[in-house]
Amino acid sequence: FTAVYKLGQGEVLEGKAFDLRTAMDQTRRVKDQAEVNLIKQLAQIATHGYNKIHEVLRPGITEIDLQLAYEGEIRRQGAHGVPYETIIGGGPNSAILHAIPTDRVVQEGEFVLVDAGAEVYDYCVDITRVFAASGKLSSQHTALYQLVRRAHTECIAMSKAGVFWRDVHMHAARVISEGLLQLGILKGSLDTLMEKEVGSVFFPHGVGHLVGLRVRDTGHAENREPKTYFGARLRVDIELEENHLITVEPGCYFISSLLESAEVQARFKDDINWSEVEKWKGIGGVRIEDNILIGRDGNENLTIDVPKHIEL
Ligand code: GLY
Ligand code: MN
Ligand code: MN
Repeated sequence: FTAVYKLGQGEVLEGKAFDLRTAMDQTRRVKDQAEVNLIKQLAQIATHGYNKIHEVLRPGITEIDLQLAYEGEIRRQGAHGVPYETIIGGGPNSAILHAIPTDRVVQEGEFVLVDAGAEVYDYCVDITRVFAASGKLSSQHTALYQLVRRAHTECIAMSKAGVFWRDVHMHAARVISEGLLQLGILKGSLDTLMEKEVGSVFFPHGVGHLVGLRVRDTGHAENREPKTYFGARLRVDIELEENHLITVEPGCYFISSLLESAEVQARFKDDINWSEVEKWKGIGGVRIEDNILIGRDGNENLTIDVPKHIEL
């Protein structure tokens, strides 16, 4: 047992060791009532942290100030800490997938993306919300937010036992591609765009991962060689079962390094409306992330109490 436990990621398990690891992973993924109760408490703690961000957020505050406000509040509320380095990005930084908070000052009218969790022992939640720094958002900000919100709502609605996770991922990819087509950012037919995976420039990650006992809850033993779907290697490529806990976190971003890549520009010369993209570049990105407990005929969103402040 010890030998199996100590094997690191990337080391190969064979035979009985693989079977044992797989059985343990499968058991661990299914959350019992005590675990669910604990995770619900963590969601409440995170809600306090997110409410604190809403309270202090204003133009002039820095990303680091927001991080300190959030982390101070969740520690006061009983969290042991954060399960991953808190991600906070204002304006263009909201397009950075793992943005480490900086001393950049939040500006009027921009997005602030906060991806922040809370942990006790090794149990955790992993949540993302996007705030408006101030006042009214532009029509572009609103359109981008609405698009991701639609993908988020629809992906949650389809998450239940018996569904293959890759199908949820592909649904997010389709909704985002369709939205970008309607906004005039992509060109051509939706089917061709999906086939060429053009939307992966704007949605370059998986739609979610198992969560709960650690931020990347186990899914690896059966996933030694993760396949790529729509440009993202899916670490979770399983059929959902009752009481799995999984994040649903579609996103859509204007990532300068991708949009300015000569290779991306050549590959998608005719599929992306490059002059339209110029008008969106500084806007950043949106991700919305909740932790979903899978049921036989539906699911329960354990992080639903963390408010989504941007109106649809
Ligand atoms: N917070 C990292 C993630 O969403 O996966
Ligand atoms: Mn996540
Ligand atoms: Mn996250």
